Order: sequence, then C-alpha cells, then structure tokens
Amino acid sequence: MKISNTAPIVILTGAGISKESGLDTFRGNGGLWEGIRVEEVASPIAFQKTPDIVHSFYNKRRERLLSPDIKPNAAHYALEKLEKEWPGEVLLVTQNVDDLHERAGSKNLIHMHGELLNARCVSCHHIFLWKKDMDTQSICPNCTAVGALRVNVVWFGEIPLMMDVIENALINAALFVSIGTSGNVYPAAGFVQVASRSNDARTIEINLEPSLNADQFSKGYYGPASETVPDFISKLLDNI
Ligand code: OAD
Repeated sequence: MKISNTAPIVILTGAGISKESGLDTFRGNGGLWEGIRVEEVASPIAFQKTPDIVHSFYNKRRERLLSPDIKPNAAHYALEKLEKEWPGEVLLVTQNVDDLHERAGSKNLIHMHGELLNARCVSCHHIFLWKKDMDTQSICPNCTAVGALRVNVVWFGEIPLMMDVIENALINAALFVSIGTSGNVYPAAGFVQVASRSNDARTIEINLEPSLNADQFSKGYYGPASETVPDFISKLLDNI
C-alpha cells in the first residue's frame, strides 16, 4: 500500500488487541459480558442502585490487569514503533481501559472509554491513579469524601472522552486502521465512515474475523493481532 509518508494516520484499537496478553474480550465465548447483564455493572444507574456489584466487577478486572503475567504483546509494540518511525502524525485511539499501550511505549494515545487504573471522585471531580480495590467506604485522597469514588471508565449511557479531538483527527486522516474490535459499540464503530467520507481515507480492518461493519473498510486482514499487526506495520514502514 502506498500512501504519502507525511499522511496522518488514526488507529482504533479494541479488546482483541489485548486478548493475547491474557485479557478477555467482551463478546463471544468466555467474554466479559457472558452471563452478565451489562447494565448491571457498567451503567450510572447500576452504580446508584448496587455500587457493591459495580465495584466488585471492576476490582476483579483491575486485579487481573495488575497480575504479573499480563504484558503488552507484539501488536502493542508494533503500534509504538509506528508512532516513533512514521514521519506524519499517528493518533492511537483505544476503547480499551487497560494500560498495555502505555506499557508498550505509545504516547499519542486517547482512552476514549476511560482507564481502569484511574479513580474519579464524583464529589470533587479529581482523577487519580488507583491500583487497589475500591468500595463504598473508599475515601477520596483529595476531598476526603467517603463513598464518592468510582472507576474512571465510560459506562453505557455516558459520553466517550475527547470526541472532538478524535473527530478532527478522523476528518484529516489519510489512513484509518481498526484493530481488534467487533464493531458493536458506537461511536467507535462509526469511525470508519467518518474517515472515509470526509477525506476519502484508506480504511483497513485488522481482526480475528470480519467485524459487523467489515464491508465498510477498503481492506481487511484476518488473524491473531500479535502476527497481523506487526506484519501490516512493517509493510507500511517499508514504503517510507
Ligand atoms: P469485543 O469483545 O466486542 O470484540 C473483540 C474483537 O476482537 C472481536 O471481533 C474478536 O473477533 C477480536 N479478537 C479476539 N481475539 C483476537 C486476537 N487475538 N487478535 C485480533 N482480534 C481478536 O470488544 P470491543 O469491540 O473492544 O465498552 O468492544 C467495544 C466496547 O464494548 C468496549 O470498549 C466496552 C464494551 O462494552 C464499554 O465498556 C463502554
């Protein structure tokens, strides 16, 4: 594929990129949403009604993310290499709440669905690093309110973060690449249309299998991310 080497690139990642690092995806067999009603653990109403259930769901995920066997894989590292070596701008937008892109060294990164290792105080609105369990008695380190802390992830019914910056980047992108996402959740599932309609960008999907909106991409590469992503990126960088 030949695109100008100063062309701006936007990459979107989803849970599939972290699967080979040991973190479960959401949908499909053994997925995080299997046997769980999403609105009971990932919505503002659930947090109001049954905060213990919500805290417990995210405590388990935080503990898993922090276990020593969870590490970035070759796909995360390939994206860091792209950011470092591509002469144009590369914006990485992730739906993932894990920190594996940061651990691999990516810098120009937006967590549109928030971050599992951050807590937010609903009383004073401060956001801070939080690595231990959280419960209804947790104390805000900033304002000392009791029981006002929540995990800083975007729940269903809430607006994803930094959408103005993301939309602007999509409008100007010459290449949009979607990696490891099923295309079930908007607005991320609609990014391919924004990129292709605004600037006639090349649009590529890299996933284990065709996603729900696979037909909207110019091209798809299918297989495990730890193989397909480094392969795609090395071909892209070979063309500089
Ligand atoms: P999903 O679980 O919906 O989809 C993960 C995708 O990754 C699927 O299409 C799999 O085929 C693919 N996949 C699995 N293993 C892979 C591998 N080794 N290599 C490449 N692809 C692989 O996850 P997302 O699309 O990220 O939102 O889900 C989007 C949002 O839905 C999440 O951010 C979360 C969830 O509800 C919120 O919680 C707000």
